[in-house]
Amino acid sequence: MLQLTNKQILLGITGGIAAYKAAEVVRRLQDAGATVRVVMTAGAQKFITPLTLQALSGNPVHCDLLDPEAEAAMGHIELARWADLVLVTPASANFMARLTQGQADDLLTTLCLATTAPVAIAPAMNQAMWKDPATQHNIEQLIARNIAIFGPDQGSQACGDIGPGRMLEAQHIAQLAAQQFQSNALDGVKITITAGPTREAIDPVRYISNHSSGKMGFALAQAAVEAGAAVTLIAGPTSLPTPERVTRIDVESAEQMHQAAIGQLSQCDIFIGAAAVADYRPVAIAEQKIKKSADSMTIELTRNPDIIAAVASHEDRPFTVGFAAETENVTGHAQGKLKRKKLDLIIANDVSNQAIGFNSDDNQVQLIWKDGDETLALASKQQLSRTIIDKIQQQFANSRSGHQVIT
Ligand code: C5P
Repeated sequence: MLQLTNKQILLGITGGIAAYKAAEVVRRLQDAGATVRVVMTAGAQKFITPLTLQALSGNPVHCDLLDPEAEAAMGHIELARWADLVLVTPASANFMARLTQGQADDLLTTLCLATTAPVAIAPAMNQAMWKDPATQHNIEQLIARNIAIFGPDQGSQACGDIGPGRMLEAQHIAQLAAQQFQSNALDGVKITITAGPTREAIDPVRYISNHSSGKMGFALAQAAVEAGAAVTLIAGPTSLPTPERVTRIDVESAEQMHQAAIGQLSQCDIFIGAAAVADYRPVAIAEQKIKKSADSMTIELTRNPDIIAAVASHEDRPFTVGFAAETENVTGHAQGKLKRKKLDLIIANDVSNQAIGFNSDDNQVQLIWKDGDETLALASKQQLSRTIIDKIQQQFANSRSGHQVIT
C-alpha cells in the first residue's frame, strides 16, 4: 500500500450528501501519513460541520475567502503554497462547473487557481447530473487541464437512483491520492545520496560535528524513490526515519561516509552529495576520555577526504550533484565549487538567512550547471526536493543524450 508520509493535503469539501464521507477521507489520508487541512464551501457546511472536520484534521477549517482573521492566520496564497496536493471530495456538479470556468468566487475555487500543486477531484452527484452533457463536457475540460478525476463509482445513490455518480470509498481515494506522487521518470536509475552531518571523534565521548539535520537529503531520497529510482541513502547521525523503499547505510565519520560512497559507485547512475561533511578530523582519537587539567588545550586537525570530488573524479563517475551552503557571494562560490569538484550540477543556498537552510523546514536554492542556472522559489524541503529531482532527471537525461540544457 502506498504511503503519504510528509505529504500536505488540502482537502476541499463541496455541497453534496457525500460530504459526510469526507470525514472518513481525512482519517484514511492521515492513516497513510498525510497532514490534512480542510477547506469547505458554503454548501458543504450545510451537510457537515466545520467543527467535525477541525476535530478530525487537528487543524482549523478554512471556509471564507474574505475572512480577515483566517487570512491573518494563514492567507489563501499561503494555503495554496502549503499544499502538495489539492483534493476535492466530494466534488459537486456545481463545483466542477466553477472549476472548469476558472472562477474564483469562493475560497476553494480561488485556491485551485492559486496553487501550483496538482489538483484531484472525486465527483459525487445524482446519476442524471453526472450524465448530463454539461457535466461531461466539464469533465473533458478538466482532464485536458491535467486535473485527476477519481471515480465516480456506480451503484445505488442517496436519492434512490441507481447509476454512476457515487463517490469512491475513502480508502480508495487515499490510495489514488498517494499515486499522484508517483512517477516513472527515474525508473531503472540508481541514485546514491549522502545526507546529514558527520561526527569526528575526539575521544570515546566527544566529537566535532555541525548543525545539519539531514532533512534535505532525506527529502531528496523520498522524492527520488517516488520518481521510480532505486535509492541508497548514506546517512550521518540523524534521528530522521528512513523514507519507504530507500536502502539506508548509517555512518558516523567522513571517512566512513567516503568508504560507503566509493563502495556504491559500481551501482550508481546519479550521486547527490547533500551531507554536511566535516572538513577536518582530529589527527588522533584519544583512547580514553580526555581529562581536564590545563586552562587551554589544542586539538590538531587534519583534512578529511572530499567525498564528492573523489566520486566525480572516479573512473566509474556517475552524474554528480553537489550542494553549496554559502553565507556570501553564493553564486560565485557555488560556480567555483562546480568547476573545482568537477560536478555536473550544484545546488546553492544562502545559509546566512535563518528562514532557509540547515535546520529549517524551508529552503530556497539556485541550480547551477556548466552553461546555465535556475532559481527555485522558496518552498518546503519536501516540495523543493520534488522539483530538484525533476531538474536532476532532465539534466541527467540530457547528459546521456549529449545535451546540456535544462528544459
Ligand atoms: O566544499 P564544500 O563543503 O562547501 O562543498 C559542499 C559539497 O561537497 C556538498 O555537496 C558536500 O556534500 C560535499 N562534500 C563532500 N566531502 C567533503 C566536503 C564536502 O562530499 N569532505
